[in-house]
Amino acid sequence: MSASSDHQDSVFSHVVQAPEDPILGVTVAYNKDPNPIKLNLGVGAYRTEEGKPLVLNVVRRAEQMLVNDQSRVKEYLPIIGLSDFNKSSAKLIFGADSTAIQENRVTTVQCLSGTGSLRVGAEFLARHYHEHTIYIPQPTWGNHPKIFNLAGLSVKPYRYYNPQTRGLDFQGLLEDLGAAPSGAIVLLHACAHNPTGVDPTLDQWEQIRQLMRSKGLLPFFDSAYQGFASGSLDADAQSVRMFVADGGECLAAQSYAKNMGLYGERVGALSIVCKTADVASRVESQLKMVIRPMYSNPPIHGASIVAVILKDRDLYNEWTVELKAMADRIISMRKQLFDALQAKGMAYKLLFTLVIHVCTPGDWSHIIKQIGMFTFTGLNTEQVAFMTREYHIYMTSDGRISMAGLNSRKVPHLADAIHAAVASIA
Ligand SMILES: Cc1ncc(COP(=O)(O)O)c(C=O)c1O
Repeated sequence: MSASSDHQDSVFSHVVQAPEDPILGVTVAYNKDPNPIKLNLGVGAYRTEEGKPLVLNVVRRAEQMLVNDQSRVKEYLPIIGLSDFNKSSAKLIFGADSTAIQENRVTTVQCLSGTGSLRVGAEFLARHYHEHTIYIPQPTWGNHPKIFNLAGLSVKPYRYYNPQTRGLDFQGLLEDLGAAPSGAIVLLHACAHNPTGVDPTLDQWEQIRQLMRSKGLLPFFDSAYQGFASGSLDADAQSVRMFVADGGECLAAQSYAKNMGLYGERVGALSIVCKTADVASRVESQLKMVIRPMYSNPPIHGASIVAVILKDRDLYNEWTVELKAMADRIISMRKQLFDALQAKGMAYKLLFTLVIHVCTPGDWSHIIKQIGMFTFTGLNTEQVAFMTREYHIYMTSDGRISMAGLNSRKVPHLADAIHAAVASIA
């Protein structure tokens, strides 16, 4: 039988080619480009100044300790994962002195990184929460709507980003959440909003909290960048802690992909803060019912690394130093790119372009105002395509660039490309 008739006979021959994932597809296209000047700013992963992936020293040390410990075995973990990992993760996000933890009102389950934590949380809500609508910011991380839809929730947007100011559309956000049905779920990025890099101020968070609590809206925090945004683990958890401090309920999905560089280890946690210990315990029993038929129980290695680091004072301190260094390098990239664009007179050019085409004054200061891994440049799809075609610079078509993928040597190349894109395409 020939290869082609094999193909025709396949019971799957009707299966159509699915599109590449819009974010991961950027790396696929980058890998295919043979040009040595190419630059990948699509990838949501940290790179060193040399453009290399980074394994934190503290992670290497923790792994070595695990390998040296002959008493360690590879048995299955419980359905909800490693107990030490869960306890330490809850403390990390809610604070070591959290009353909710002390009162046993928090249930934490180890999940497959941030994505898995969101999915388990969503499945739980779909089964056990009376309101099935989740409001997500507009725009948001591309996987959010798919995760929630597939779990059986209905997804609606709330206004978040104002392209004119390149900042928060706070009024729009308050109006949309104010108009949401009582009890609706609201997805909030705990810090370093992806893709915009725009976060509410603490004052604005407080107003959001008051509005949401007054309407009985249920907060579901996505915390994928704790410590990675400002360099401080505590500062980056303020939004979440504010909501927990008022005694109300919420969900929080944590990821250790970025802040510990454990991307491929898939380490994360879902916490549900309840009103009483009794409810928390029943909620946990139902989380097990969600997890068991999905993947039975989570992997042991990555969670063990995290548990070792979070429980040992020296390792923990070493981690905070390395984490701060990553955050600082990203902040320095923002500054260098901003300076390079200023030097090219981009502020004037952009102002000129924007006044004509979107009637808004603007400059590149959003690059240094935005926070976290990404800058939402404001470049449009055509400008992005131009930069990829002419300068071999890869990014998502919404103009989001990963500052973590940039380094000092590549800043002039990127500034040239942005300059050319803005100059030649309106
Ligand atoms: C906002 C946001 N949430 C969640 C995630 C989940 O990441 P992971 O599943 O790798 O932890 C990401 C990753 O890019 C993200 O940006």
